[in-house]
Amino acid sequence: VNAFLPGELVLLTDTRDRMYLVELAPGGQFHTHNGVLAHDAVIGRHAGVVLYTSGGARITAFRPRLADFVRKMPRAATVLYPKDVGPVLVYGDIGPGCTVVEAGTGSGGLTLALLRAVGPTGRVCSVEIRDDHRAAAERNIRRFLGELPANLELVAGDVGAHLASLRADRIVLDLPEPWSVADAAAEALAGGGLWVSYVPTVPQVGETVTALRRAGRYADIETFEILLRTWHVDGRSIRPDHRMIGHTGFLTVARFADDARLANASRLAADG
Ligand SMILES: C[S@@+](CC[C@H](N)C(=O)[O-])C[C@H]1O[C@@H](n2cnc3c(N)ncnc32)[C@H](O)[C@@H]1O
Repeated sequence: VNAFLPGELVLLTDTRDRMYLVELAPGGQFHTHNGVLAHDAVIGRHAGVVLYTSGGARITAFRPRLADFVRKMPRAATVLYPKDVGPVLVYGDIGPGCTVVEAGTGSGGLTLALLRAVGPTGRVCSVEIRDDHRAAAERNIRRFLGELPANLELVAGDVGAHLASLRADRIVLDLPEPWSVADAAAEALAGGGLWVSYVPTVPQVGETVTALRRAGRYADIETFEILLRTWHVDGRSIRPDHRMIGHTGFLTVARFADDARLANASRLAADG
């Protein structure tokens, strides 16, 4: 059994599906409206254990998934939603051994997913222009992983300035003007690689795709969005939930090509 250890993060859920992220400390206490749960009652037990507060409230202790942690962690900047993180990893083909350049680091949510995908043989270099965001991301990453992994480099500054000196298998951009680094990213990706960018608005998509076509070094440029609809399943009432997150943003994925001018020429002409 993989028992909870002191210092570990635990997700405590009550009977109303409320979730609390708690760092286990010997002697520590978790307070609810209905009594107290000692951290020592969780330490040494397995994930999924059912416990009761001093007031008799039922609590289940889980190991937080990365998606739970990202939802609960302090946010410096808007984090990428899990529904968008998955496609970044899959359509960006980010796997073990990859070298990924990411910008901006933001709150570090996507950085954690990238680290998990590339594994110990890969590398993540994450560039962030704001010191306060970088510091917040560093705190979040340390909190989830216990330390900053050796294969992560958190870099201060403008990604445009850094790309010239970087080489990458994948470039992942979640920042307002990804189009401004289309040319520099092509240099960093030379040798074959993939571009993935995420932007929330349609004009940003237009700017991004036009810049990728003009750069003449990207092929298979695709833009898409992910709509996730959750369902209410209760007895015979099985139907979509009334509320959903209607919009987050658009992903654009492209492959590096030595010369894609011809392939993009007709579309560039249509773009005007
Ligand atoms: C939406 S947040 C990224 C969130 C991140 N993907 C996450 O899941 O936590 C965008 C970040 O990009 C940073 N940024 C904006 N322009 C930048 C640039 N040119 N170079 C580096 N970082 C930049 C911002 O300061 C901000 O922290």
